[in-house]
Amino acid sequence: MHLFNLKIIKKQYLALGMLVFVVLFLFNSKPAFQCQLTPDSSAYLPTIYGITPTYARLAQKADLTRLSQTLMLVKNFHWIVIEDSASKTKLVENLLKESNLKYTHLNVKTDKPKGSSNHGNGSTASGVEQRNMALDWLRGHLRSPEGTPGVVFFMDDDNTYALKIFDEMRKIKRVGVWPVGIVGGMRVEMPLVTDGKVSGYNAVWKPYRPFPIDMAGFAINATLFLDFPEAKFSRKVQSGFQESEILKYVVTQQELEPLAENCTKVYVWHTRTQKPSIISPKKLKKPLVPDNHIEV
Ligand SMILES: *[C@@H]1O[C@H](CO)[C@@H](O)[C@H](O)[C@H]1NC(C)=O
Ligand SMILES: *[C@@H]1O[C@H](CO)[C@@H](O)[C@H](O)[C@H]1NC(C)=O
Repeated sequence: MHLFNLKIIKKQYLALGMLVFVVLFLFNSKPAFQCQLTPDSSAYLPTIYGITPTYARLAQKADLTRLSQTLMLVKNFHWIVIEDSASKTKLVENLLKESNLKYTHLNVKTDKPKGSSNHGNGSTASGVEQRNMALDWLRGHLRSPEGTPGVVFFMDDDNTYALKIFDEMRKIKRVGVWPVGIVGGMRVEMPLVTDGKVSGYNAVWKPYRPFPIDMAGFAINATLFLDFPEAKFSRKVQSGFQESEILKYVVTQQELEPLAENCTKVYVWHTRTQKPSIISPKKLKKPLVPDNHIEV
């Protein structure tokens, strides 16, 4: 009798247990089904075309290594690297090959205007020919069957990029803007936003610029470079006006799309690598062990 009761109780427990199990299973499987649906509904992940001019200097490999290893974490990224040189260097070629990134390697030498140093601080012409060459390449690519739509981001090789900035720029319809840290003599240079629209800028360096925004502070829908085939950078404009130069072709202030939580977050910093000082071998008492065979 006692044993029989126990059996019934056990059966009841078993049934209850199974019911709980089934309910939990149904509950759990709902989000699982949703997860399976998500990739279909967001099949379009815009390509980010990062355009990076670069030139030979002691810290070049260090800077490109740091940047490339950030880019390895970005999905659907195509890196367009343009060397300011008469021919492609082994250093950049090998770095790109070993990165496993999707890349395009170009080169064009800047012809120096009379009496100006090539890459002096604030050189007005720095990167103009290189970025224009990248845009020419991009137009051809976008018209070809391999061309995928997306956004164009002009990336200095020594800036610092948080991964969040790449998520932000995929939302762009036309041109997206956001704050840039440590630039133009400020902690943060940024568009001012009223009711979700850009209403001004808090720049102090040449605030009369049509778009007082750093190169790292915006990205442009790649399609616009097909719509505006004349859009390019210019050697003729004064220092600090390159951003305004390219933006004037493709967008008005009213059309700018404030990203990074209505321009309240910093996801990119205009860091600059300090020029390293190396002791001249001539000044050393004892000759150094030769190290020219080592790439630095
Ligand atoms: C860019 O423009 C095209 C064409 O207007 C549009 O389909 C696309 O959604 C826009 N944004 C991105 C990030 O590609
Ligand atoms: C930006 O501001 C607009 C207008 O105030 C608001 O509707 C929107 O939700 C804000 N966006 C974000 C991401 O905070």
